[in-house]
Amino acid sequence: MTTTVVESIPELRSRLQNHRNTGLVPTMGALHAGHTRLIETARTQCDPVVVSIFVNPLQFDRKDDLDRYPRTLDSDVELCEELSVDLIFAPSAAEMYPAPPLCTVEVGRIADHLCGPFRPGHFRGVATVVMKLLQIVQPHRAYFGEKDAQQLAVIRRVVADLNVPTAIVEVPTVREPDGLAMSSRNRLLSGPQRASATVLYEALREAARQIAERQRDPAVIKRTATDRIGRTPGVRLEYFEIVDPEEMQPVSRIDGPVRVAGAIWVGSTRLIDNMLCVPPVCPAVS
Ligand code: PAF
Repeated sequence: MTTTVVESIPELRSRLQNHRNTGLVPTMGALHAGHTRLIETARTQCDPVVVSIFVNPLQFDRKDDLDRYPRTLDSDVELCEELSVDLIFAPSAAEMYPAPPLCTVEVGRIADHLCGPFRPGHFRGVATVVMKLLQIVQPHRAYFGEKDAQQLAVIRRVVADLNVPTAIVEVPTVREPDGLAMSSRNRLLSGPQRASATVLYEALREAARQIAERQRDPAVIKRTATDRIGRTPGVRLEYFEIVDPEEMQPVSRIDGPVRVAGAIWVGSTRLIDNMLCVPPVCPAVS
């Protein structure tokens, strides 16, 4: 099937105006198996399926990161065709931001921890562009990966607080056979860096095991992870935190479901990953 690539907002709107079950997969391109899973999920639930490809300058806190972000439109279009995507929305920065925006979406304390403090303005940029995409496409469902758990929490909250009539669908993280979470940034890693990058997944697995074995103290779990990551050559830990899954606030004790999340630098590439961990319920005392 042929996927139509649309660059202008009025053209996209006119192509979608008679549809009542539109699915949107927002992306920044450089599509990989994680995006494939998002698109396949959308395909089973929606018609038409729209994939947006836009490297959003507003969410980059560093210009070098924006410049280095992989851009692979031709192969992205090919993959979308294979996956029977109906429309790709690939606007220019001028189409999305004809003037620097005066109105942006502030996301409050969900951005106070994890990636927030290390990427000033990042979640404002994400919330703003996602809000714009939801206004432009007006999808019935929009699909986001669990790998970006804090982003997902932000988007869920924006949609709830601003009464946006779009269902947000979470799609599980897709991993390489050795556990590395699929990410557009993985292609920036050299061979040895790629081998070291799995340490974040291994630290998350260890944290999940500790929680399953009833470790309730986040400090103990963080220490284990910090030691492990600190011993890995070429890897620098940015953060490793245990937070509540809705508002992403650090917990002082693990008494219910928590999101364990970390960020590492492997050379000049930043990688993030997380796991939802549910502690076992204590057996009732008779
Ligand atoms: O996850 C991403 O690729 C981006 O943050 C998103 C949601 C497409 C917004 O630019």
